[in-house]
Amino acid sequence: MFASFRSIGAYIPEDIRTNQWFCDRMDTTDDWIVKRTGINERRIATSTQATSDLGVEAAKIAIERANIDIQDIDLVLCATISPDYLCMPSTACLIADKLGIHEAMAFDISAACTGFVYALSIAKAFIESGMKKNVLIIGAEKLSSIVDYSDRTTCMLFGDGAGAAIISATENKDEAIIDVRCSADGSQKDLLLTPGVESGEKQFMQMKGNETFKVAVRTLTSDVLKILEKNNMSNDDIDLFIPHQANYRIIKAVGDALEFKDEQKVLTVNKYGNTSSASIPMAINDCYESGRLKSGDTLLLDAFGGGLTWGSALVKFSPKK
Ligand code: UT7
Repeated sequence: MFASFRSIGAYIPEDIRTNQWFCDRMDTTDDWIVKRTGINERRIATSTQATSDLGVEAAKIAIERANIDIQDIDLVLCATISPDYLCMPSTACLIADKLGIHEAMAFDISAACTGFVYALSIAKAFIESGMKKNVLIIGAEKLSSIVDYSDRTTCMLFGDGAGAAIISATENKDEAIIDVRCSADGSQKDLLLTPGVESGEKQFMQMKGNETFKVAVRTLTSDVLKILEKNNMSNDDIDLFIPHQANYRIIKAVGDALEFKDEQKVLTVNKYGNTSSASIPMAINDCYESGRLKSGDTLLLDAFGGGLTWGSALVKFSPKK
């Protein structure tokens, strides 16, 4: 049995927060933010929306586009670092409940910005083992709830949003997800973290931006080379290269090092900022809705985040015919 990537959906919050919002509140400029990050604006959820609400909206679209019965979903995975509740119940349980799914296995994945690629890897493994048939994977974040708006070096980077996909069993190898690689190195935990409840600190994200930047460029580049080599593939086999959207300069450095053409590279950080686990599925959805992503296309996903965690995936986009 193989796992196929059937559909994509996303929820983009309506409220647009431009760079001017930050300029009005702290010592920064639009010029600095655009030059150092490539971000012009990001989306912010309302005060009454929780991460699970964003995830549900994205999931509904993915389910509708996959054209499957909601009750046929037998696993719900939510990647998030901004869950509705601290540890329990998981955001995946809340999303499943809001969708009316009450018997499927459901759990969260804590792998920061690599969360969606981790979810993809877990979905693939469950399907290939024969344990599950239709997996709903979600990357959902209300990062505005864990951003420290007194820290000008990080707060302008992040936005809210959610993306979701349906991964289903197929016997057709041509429709299969080709490969997913996931890695972690806890020895570099201090680069990106959210303090625990006993730390005495507020539960806001902290990042050593400049150090993280350098490790991100190195890791995102080397992981792509490894997955392509392992699968005996080259840049020419890739239709869309979709890296985690953290910073335009990271994406440019990685894209240039790997020699991807402009028409292969996907960029959304300018309008959504960094949405952590939601960034890759939101970018895939953008390509789908603009007509850039077509049935049978080969996607190369490339993620990096706190933990440290990183991962890449070679995915055939295989909507059901
Ligand atoms: O999603 C997980 C992975 N995340 C990432 O990979 C993000 C990685 N990091 C980054 O994107 C970048 O490091 C930042 C955008 C966060 C920062 O850019 P940078 O080029 O690494 O800047 P820097 O931290 O080296 O700071 C350069 C200067 C400093 O001033 P001095 O010391 O040179 O006088 C900062 O104080 O820019 C100053 N600065 C600012 N100036 C205006 C820092 N933040 C701001 C600001 N506005 N908001």
